[in-house]
Amino acid sequence: MRYNLVASALVAASMMCGVLAQSGADCAESGGNWYCQAVQKIAYSGFGKSGQYKKVTNMYPSCQQSDQSYSGPLSPFDEEVSMHFRGPMVINQVAVYTPSSSSSKAKARRTVHERRHGHAGFHKRNKEIREMQERQIGATVTATINGETVHWINEYGGPGGSPSTSAAAASTPSSAAGSGDAGFIGAAVDSVEAAAAPTTSSSADSATSSSSTASTPVASGDWVRSAYYKQDSQTAQGMVFLNNMGGSASGVFDNTYGNSLAYASPDGSSAASSPQVSNGTLDSNKEVIIFSDQKCNGDCGYVRDGTVAYHGFDGAEKLFLFEFSMPDDGTTGWNMNMPSGWFLNAQIPRTAQYASCSCWESGCGEFDWCEVLDSGNTKCKSTWHGNTPGGSSDYFDRPTSAPIKMAVLMTPSGINVQKLDDSQDFGTSMSKATINQLSSTSSESDGEKLLTTLFALGS
Ligand SMILES: *[C@@H]1O[C@H](CO)[C@@H](O)[C@H](O)[C@H]1NC(C)=O
Repeated sequence: MRYNLVASALVAASMMCGVLAQSGADCAESGGNWYCQAVQKIAYSGFGKSGQYKKVTNMYPSCQQSDQSYSGPLSPFDEEVSMHFRGPMVINQVAVYTPSSSSSKAKARRTVHERRHGHAGFHKRNKEIREMQERQIGATVTATINGETVHWINEYGGPGGSPSTSAAAASTPSSAAGSGDAGFIGAAVDSVEAAAAPTTSSSADSATSSSSTASTPVASGDWVRSAYYKQDSQTAQGMVFLNNMGGSASGVFDNTYGNSLAYASPDGSSAASSPQVSNGTLDSNKEVIIFSDQKCNGDCGYVRDGTVAYHGFDGAEKLFLFEFSMPDDGTTGWNMNMPSGWFLNAQIPRTAQYASCSCWESGCGEFDWCEVLDSGNTKCKSTWHGNTPGGSSDYFDRPTSAPIKMAVLMTPSGINVQKLDDSQDFGTSMSKATINQLSSTSSESDGEKLLTTLFALGS
């Protein structure tokens, strides 16, 4: 099964890239994975469909699970998520934002329907994109969305639809052997090329938000920073740094599940007995996990006996900003020189990230936002692992020499990953205009063109 999955993935990927080649992009295979073009933004849609995964209810004396249904915006990633990093990596800054309390979930939802003209266009655009994504696989889609001419090759894979990306079949930080029951994978490579985007459409969003900023002292649409790490000042607020090295200084070890979570030492290479601030440097194959600073207190569902356990970052609206680099340390071998930034449903590490007793196998969710898939590769890929898995074959350039800033925005519309301008600040709040820009699937940003890829997960 697993072998066949990989084989068909390669066929699908090469067909896909053949199509793309005609449209001007070059795709190449490396280490079993396909890479098409470097982009600045990849927008994943298609979350929030109802589904089911198996939640761990106990791990002793053996793994016990029960069916957990999910539905609604961004599900299942509206649940708590944890942030994971693997070296070689230097983490300069991390910030987490959520809507301010004045725009609580209920209010934010109401606002969607009360939008003024600028936002109505955005809403409509999403609908149009969704409709186009539902068209036939392989069709070249050309459309005018908000005045922009947009082309893409529709590789959307519906149920029973073929394509698997090799990215999704490739090894992943938490993948367990024999989990090749993916079914299908929506292998969309949707290059959006903006032609002469009219200023009217893109300025509408910002005009709306600046007028709302002007009319309220603390802009109600602004998001607030709930957690922040800064390497050079060695400060961390609202978060803890853990790793999978439990058993000595903190956490537990047993022969069935291995090491539990533990407090990470500052360089991530060992466990500590209490929370430590990361020194921001991770060597090859060393990992650190960021949770919120809220300790589980019987309110995280089941967690492994004796593990260190914290809440993750909850809700269908959350923004993560990263400033980081992924130096090439020249090492080779298993998991070496393969840096990665990813998210897991926080239940996974709180039970068993690297043993088979978690909700990972049944699709509670992993999102890789910048993952190097073979030693020394200079390209970062993104992939959703869930019940409708998929990953774009477009990529971000791995920042080997200097730090870059990236955003991962999770909203009811999906997950957008975007490379940010070096001037982006990680301040205590994030303006509505910035959130709008990050959530936009337009390829226009502050008058600049962003090469943007749209990827619809299968249904
Ligand atoms: C973090 O700690 C490791 C091990 O002591 C060290 O090699 C590295 O230089 C440190 N990084 C920083 C930024 O201090």
